[in-house]
Amino acid sequence: MNKQGVGSFTIRRSRAPVRALRMVLLPACLLFVLAAMAQAAAPEKGVDGAATYVGEKVCANCHAAENAHFGHTVHAGVFRQNPRNERERQVCEACHGPGSRHLANATDRNALIGFTREWGTPVEKQNAQCLGCHQGRQRIYWPGSPHASNMLACSDCHNTMTRMSATGLLKKASISETCYSCHRQQRAEFRKRSHMPLPEGKMSCGSCHNPHGSPTRPMLNANTVNDVCYSCHTEKRGPFIWEHAPVRENCLNCHEAHGSNHEALLVAPRPFLCQQCHTNRTHQNTLATVPNLASGAAPNQRLIARGCQTCHAQIHGSNHPAGVRFLR
Ligand code: HEC
Ligand code: HEC
Ligand code: HEC
Ligand code: HEC
Ligand code: HEC
Ligand code: HEC
Ligand code: HEC
Ligand code: HEC
Ligand code: HEC
Ligand code: HEC
Repeated sequence: MNKQGVGSFTIRRSRAPVRALRMVLLPACLLFVLAAMAQAAAPEKGVDGAATYVGEKVCANCHAAENAHFGHTVHAGVFRQNPRNERERQVCEACHGPGSRHLANATDRNALIGFTREWGTPVEKQNAQCLGCHQGRQRIYWPGSPHASNMLACSDCHNTMTRMSATGLLKKASISETCYSCHRQQRAEFRKRSHMPLPEGKMSCGSCHNPHGSPTRPMLNANTVNDVCYSCHTEKRGPFIWEHAPVRENCLNCHEAHGSNHEALLVAPRPFLCQQCHTNRTHQNTLATVPNLASGAAPNQRLIARGCQTCHAQIHGSNHPAGVRFLR
């Protein structure tokens, strides 16, 4: 994966106004700010000259476009209309940190916490800002997760400055598009001949994964692969009188999780799928010899259509008293 590409996405249309402001309006802006600061409680110098909070109105003077976009987000709604504590009341500075030093020198990149790669604030520091309010719950396994240990920032998936997605303040319009921006291989898998109906919009990566981390590899949102699958394919959970051992063990013994070029997301075509495990007795093996192949000299009727399943139809398990061989 191209690490350079990570998070290179920024809202371009909102950066242009920043630049214009810098060149034309900065002096005017500064005057305005100074006036505003004189009126409002002037920011005192913090202990050891540490930055102090200046309030969102000051920020909006120079960052009008960002302020307007931000107005459409969940955070703006909560922080402005129904703040639950002092930190939420700080609005812009709840995330970007106290702004007084930024006002003194807008180009000092240590004076303010930025969430774009260009700004250069260390990823841990960025994430700590978000985790200050969002620790626990879905993110309980964030520390040490593959995403955290590969230095992903919350803002690699989330854009909290504008509303790009219906839910979740994501960087792209949907969960899957957000993930695809880095996981190209998975995008290809979902385009295979048979695939989970994700491109059709019936599910998202989040139906099976928790991108914030999980104790189940690879970041699955249940305790085992099978539990993930049972959450939708409940009929496969059983209980069955006659269980097929590989089904109970792991659905991935026979299925791909994302997509496959064989039917029904199978990992191998039939009958070879079955013969990977069933080879040493009676008819299980003979079926695949060349003269017996469906197109061979002496076609074996058992190979017609779905091969083994012409007879062993209940491959996920049987509830028929005589279903020990999954024939019914
Ligand atoms: C006097 C005008 C002015 C005020 C007031 C101001 N900024 Fe800025 N801000 C700028 C300029 C100019 C830049 C661009 C600096 C650069 O690119 O080197 C900037 C950059 C930023 C960035 C970095 C963007 C990036 O590239 O990641 C953030 C975040 C930011 N400001 C937030 C704030 C917040 C929050 C406040 C209020 C506390 C605030 N600004 C107040 C002028 C201002
Ligand atoms: C919930 C946390 C949060 C709050 C609140 C917040 N920001 Fe941001 N801000 C971010 C993140 C995350 C980014 C990076 C967005 C991205 O990926 O492009 C950002 C980016 C910026 C930038 C850089 C330009 C851009 O959009 O990429 C500016 C300027 C900025 N914020 C100003 C503000 C101002 C002004 C406010 C208050 C009106 C504010 N922010 C409130 C998190 C926040
Ligand atoms: C001051 C506390 C605070 C900070 C800092 C903060 N958030 Fe939030 N965030 C909230 C609150 C409050 C909500 C509203 C939903 C709720 O009650 O949990 C919220 C909601 C969200 C949501 C859900 C949006 C939705 O549509 O449901 C996301 C995603 C989110 N925040 C991401 C972030 C990211 C990323 C950062 C850091 C850039 C961040 N937050 C920083 C308090 C915070
Ligand atoms: C790899 C991508 C990715 C990263 C990195 C990421 N998130 Fe998320 N986050 C998501 C997705 C996907 C959702 C679900 C959005 C939806 O349901 O619409 C989500 C949902 C959320 C929500 C709303 C649901 C809830 O749990 O209340 C919050 C808050 C949140 N993320 C915070 C964070 C914080 C904080 C970080 C950084 C520590 C972070 N996220 C890092 C992808 C990511
Ligand atoms: C900014 C790039 C980026 C984005 C966006 C991203 N990922 Fe990842 N993801 C990574 C990196 C880096 C790794 C670790 C290296 C690897 O396995 O490729 C990873 C690993 C994973 C893994 C494998 C974990 C393991 O144990 O091997 C899963 C599953 C995953 N990501 C799911 C998601 C989902 C779901 C989303 C969207 C919500 C998402 N990712 C968005 C970069 C990203
Ligand atoms: C139907 C459930 C399901 C959905 C939907 C799903 N995954 Fe997976 N994913 C899995 C399972 C199960 C594995 C483990 C595969 C294995 O061990 O061979 C996995 C593995 C992965 C891995 C680890 C590398 C690999 O391919 O084995 C990554 C990365 C990943 N998924 C990303 C994604 C992304 C991105 C999306 C959305 C575009 C997504 N997944 C949607 C179930 C799912
Ligand atoms: C979020 C719900 C959900 C989860 C979780 C889920 N599936 Fe599915 N699965 C579906 C839906 C919906 C279909 C499409 C059914 C249809 O089109 O009739 C499907 C179809 C399938 C198919 C048939 C594909 C075909 O071409 O006939 C297989 C096989 C399958 N899933 C296996 C799995 C496995 C294995 C897992 C666990 C890794 C899993 N599913 C997890 C919802 C889910
Ligand atoms: C021993 C191999 C094997 C294992 C293990 C297996 N399957 Fe299947 N599965 C198949 C075959 C073969 C088909 C195609 C059936 C057909 O075409 O009649 C299939 C079809 C499916 C289908 C689509 C048709 C249907 O029956 O609804 C779903 C959904 C499915 N499997 C889910 C699962 C789940 C969930 C698991 C794990 C609990 C699982 N499978 C484990 C072999 C297996
Ligand atoms: C991952 C290995 C694996 C795959 C793939 C697999 N099986 Fe099995 N199968 C087993 C195991 C293990 C048993 C249990 C054997 C036992 O109890 O002696 C079993 C049991 C059976 C039985 C009952 C045998 C008996 O002695 O009671 C039948 C019939 C069967 N499988 C048919 C199939 C068919 C048809 C397929 C292909 C759709 C298939 N199997 C794929 C491992 C597999
Ligand atoms: C024409 C129907 C038919 C087809 C096709 C078929 N089987 Fe069978 N299979 C049976 C019957 C009937 C039994 C039960 C034999 C008994 O109980 O003595 C059986 C028994 C089995 C057994 C249990 C152990 C044994 O050998 O008696 C396994 C394993 C098995 N079949 C695997 C397969 C595999 C793998 C395929 C595909 C390569 C396959 N079968 C194709 C009818 C079929």
